[in-house]
Amino acid sequence: MSDYSISHVEFYVGDARQAAYYYRTAFGFRTIAEGGPETGQKDRRSILLAQGDIRLLMTSDLTPDGVVARYVARHGDGVANIALRVQDAEQAFGRAVAQGAAPVAEPCPVEQPDGTVVSAAVTAFGDTVHSFVQYEHDGQLPGPHLRRVESADDAPDEQQLHTLDHFAVCLPAGELAKTVAFYEKGLGFCEAFEEFIEVGDQAMESKVVRSTSGAVTFTFLEPDVRRKPGQIDAFLDAHGGAGVQHLAFSTSAIAGAVRRLSSQGVEFLHTPATYYEAVEGRVGPLGGDLDVLRELCVLADRDDWGLLYQIFTRSPHARGTFFLELIERRGAQTFGSGNIKGLYEAVERAQAASGAGAR
Ligand code: FE2
Repeated sequence: MSDYSISHVEFYVGDARQAAYYYRTAFGFRTIAEGGPETGQKDRRSILLAQGDIRLLMTSDLTPDGVVARYVARHGDGVANIALRVQDAEQAFGRAVAQGAAPVAEPCPVEQPDGTVVSAAVTAFGDTVHSFVQYEHDGQLPGPHLRRVESADDAPDEQQLHTLDHFAVCLPAGELAKTVAFYEKGLGFCEAFEEFIEVGDQAMESKVVRSTSGAVTFTFLEPDVRRKPGQIDAFLDAHGGAGVQHLAFSTSAIAGAVRRLSSQGVEFLHTPATYYEAVEGRVGPLGGDLDVLRELCVLADRDDWGLLYQIFTRSPHARGTFFLELIERRGAQTFGSGNIKGLYEAVERAQAASGAGAR
């Protein structure tokens, strides 16, 4: 039985160099590889960034009507491919297609200087796909047209972000059940958690699915159309359909990470002081952490296993769609009952403050 982990996340963006600059400067990533016409990739520029176990690939089109350009025209910058590392790409591809995924790329072995990499791809949700990447050994590059670069900004002692904790995905109403069923049957994931979340006049359904090892987690969100439109509807409208709403980066020291990233230009959502008057009643004593959480606007939650701290960024994109989360787990394995509601309320507060959504 094969299992899945994250190989890398590919963003389709208007300008790969600008996007890479932002993630390097604001979030502390470093460039480890690059591809373009000089490496045989004639119609695209790709820059591979890394920090901890996280690898982000920024790709932009060099033509006006290629696949990447069309994605960006329709959705703006966003996550186009969540590439999953698998033991057998052909088997993973066959299983996903048998369960209803459309093939995007047939399994294809590519000889690279450091060994063979086999890749395939299928549709996932909206215009987002899953690549299945089979490496011969750790540390290989994910594509034949990427070349390693010596990075001047390589500073491993300053890395604050360790893994991709989870992806949150907005789905149009009516797609949640079949999407979860596909991840269970087509990828072998298990449903870990579900919740109906009500905030004011709005409501949404949420289901969490995980790979068997726990290395890959998706939180799927679907609006309840019986209620007033809310932030899920706003994302679907602005993005143009289903897509990744946010990525969560894990950190072992959220306070230090928030301070550093803020100083580097990352904008985090504000949390009102009243939140902290009630938080210990909900999650238990926080000791000296409470003042730090309040100062930095970090949210807290608890599940059966322990605490978690989290904070959300403003969307760095013009459409106000995709954004990022930092999460520090202190024993918590799930999201706690208040986690998703906490996000919802944080975004609602940002929308109320701006009068035009978190854009
Ligand atoms: Fe999240």
